[in-house]
Parts: sequence; C-alpha cells; structure tokens
Amino acid sequence: MIFQRNVWYVAAKSEDVDRQLRRRTILNEPVLLYRTERGEVAAMQDLCPHRFAPLSRGTLFGDIVQCKYHGLRFDALGRCVHNPHGDVITQRMHVRRYPTAERHGFIWIWMGDSAQAEPERIPDLSYMDAPGTRTVHSYIKANYRYDILVDNLLDLSHAEYLHVGSFSAGPAACSKTSVNEERNDVFVVRTMQDGPSLPHLAHLGERIDQTLNIHWRPGQVMNFEIKSTPVGDPSSNGHRARFSHIATPETEGTTHYFMSTTRDYAIDDPKVDAEAALRQVTVIQNEDGPMLDAINAEMHGMELMDMGPVLLPVDVGAIRVRRVMKRLIDEEISGSQNSVSATRSR
Ligand code: FES
Ligand SMILES: [Fe+2]
Repeated sequence: MIFQRNVWYVAAKSEDVDRQLRRRTILNEPVLLYRTERGEVAAMQDLCPHRFAPLSRGTLFGDIVQCKYHGLRFDALGRCVHNPHGDVITQRMHVRRYPTAERHGFIWIWMGDSAQAEPERIPDLSYMDAPGTRTVHSYIKANYRYDILVDNLLDLSHAEYLHVGSFSAGPAACSKTSVNEERNDVFVVRTMQDGPSLPHLAHLGERIDQTLNIHWRPGQVMNFEIKSTPVGDPSSNGHRARFSHIATPETEGTTHYFMSTTRDYAIDDPKVDAEAALRQVTVIQNEDGPMLDAINAEMHGMELMDMGPVLLPVDVGAIRVRRVMKRLIDEEISGSQNSVSATRSR
C-alpha cells in the first residue's frame, strides 16, 4: 500500500501529547512525540541513528532526549547535541524531524517533504472552536485498514442496516446519494424523505426528512452534518448534528481513528462530554468495528478494486474518493521522480 505523504495528518489529540516520551506509528514510521518545557510539540523519528534504539525508551532532560542505549542526546528538532563517546557530531547523527502544528484540539503532522508543509493546508475545522460550542474528541486504535474505514464513512446507507436501533430506525424509502468534487475535496449528499424517526428526534414526528452532508478532504478528514426536519417542512430548523471522523493510517492494516462531536448546548457540562464521548465510541466499537474487522480479514491485504467488487449506487462517494486519492498519490510519485531526475541532470 502506498500512502499519500504530502498532506497534514492528525497524529494525536492535543491532550494526549505531554511531557512523556510517546511513540506513535504513522504511515509505518515510528514517531516520537513530546512537549517541550514551553509546551511546543516535538516530533521526530523514534529511532536512534546509532543502533536504532527507540528514543521513546530514553529520558527527557528539559527539552533534550537522551538515548537509553548509549546516551546520544537530541534536541527537540532532532539535532544530535551531545555525543558522550567523543566530541564529533556528524550530519548522519541527526534524527529526522517532522513538521507539526496544533489546531482544533489536534496535533497535525506532515510526513512528506518538509518544504511543502504549509500550515494553511490544514483543513479548516474552526467550527469546532467557535464560541458557544463544545467539541469532544475520542480516539480508538482500529485494527483495520484506513481505506475500508473511509469507504464505510462515505457510504452511510449502511446505517439503515448495521446501526438499526442505535442511530437508524431502519431502511428508508426515497433515499438517494449524490456526489460532487471541488479541487481535491469530495462532497456527498444523501437525502432521505419520509423515513422513520428516532427516539431523540421524536419531537419532529414519527416520520422525518433528513439531509446528510459529508465533506471529505485529503488526510482522510471527514465532516458530517445531518439535518432532520418534519416530513415536507424543509424550512424548519429541525435538528442539526455535526461531527467529524478522521482516519490516519498507522500501518497498511491499522488506523488511528479520531471521532469528534460538536454541540451548542450544555457546553460547560463534563457529564454531557463524557456521554458524548462514550456514545460515539460505543457505536463504532460495537457495530462498525466487528464488521470492518471481518472485512479486513477477508481482504487479506488485497486492494479493493483488484478484488472486483460489485458496485452499487451508494458507493458513488467512496469510489470518487478512491479516484481522488489515486490521482494525488500518482502526482506525488511523479513529482518525486521529476525532482530526482532534475537532481541527476544537474
Ligand atoms: S542506540 Fe542510541 S546511542 Fe546507541
Ligand atoms: Fe457506521
């Protein structure tokens, strides 16, 4: 599996990076994460250049990491700053450092060419930080690959079967899905007319109309907005839910899965925070998780399209995303090949 590299990925929730040395694998690379004394995030390869000991097993002195094996020391930018076995420090003794940025409650990391790591390219999730709102982030380590998770999220028709009783009341007539692409973003709209309501939407009636908007961005950042209204009353304020799901590849077969839900009521109530966190994780772990685990096992690491899947109209969003991802990865590969041949011809 080839990953897109020149894109911002979510490495961690902000609150999960502190003064401890922590290892997190991203795109198959071991990354060391910690905060400096000033609270800035340090991210570097979790691999000492001497004997490849994980630096996360070392010790933090101020902002300096000391390797546990033979004591080489590195600063927060990955530069070797002390060699106890001689005065010489060479270029090869520095550790690769990854650009990071902290925004919207997440640590974002750039695993590709550092020169392209512009913070403006971080997806704008500022609705999460807007005054009068509260966002709760949850994390699970998923033992299935990121692309089947993205397929799952872009095709929410599965809710009418897999999530009956939790957040769907069952199949709805007149559902349709449409898709749109703008630059590298994909938008999916799914509408349901005159479908069964749910207990928390009972005030809208026994039957409701629903519009679901999904906005997918590279880096596997997906935003969802669900608007529910009484049947035939599109102008009603109805009920609006906003949440996001972010899937950062850990390895070919595993994923860092971040879920966030944003609300505009009870914003200072930690009990509501805890309930929201539990709700979002429980449905994923109990309902999506077992199905995606099973699919992951059946695929034996093969690419989905190589397996010749039957395609249904509900797959339109997921297939469009796969096409965009393929184009972005192809562009990245040809870009790096061009820069290699330009270097050679100099
Ligand atoms: S492995 Fe790190 S100093 Fe030897
Ligand atoms: Fe689901």
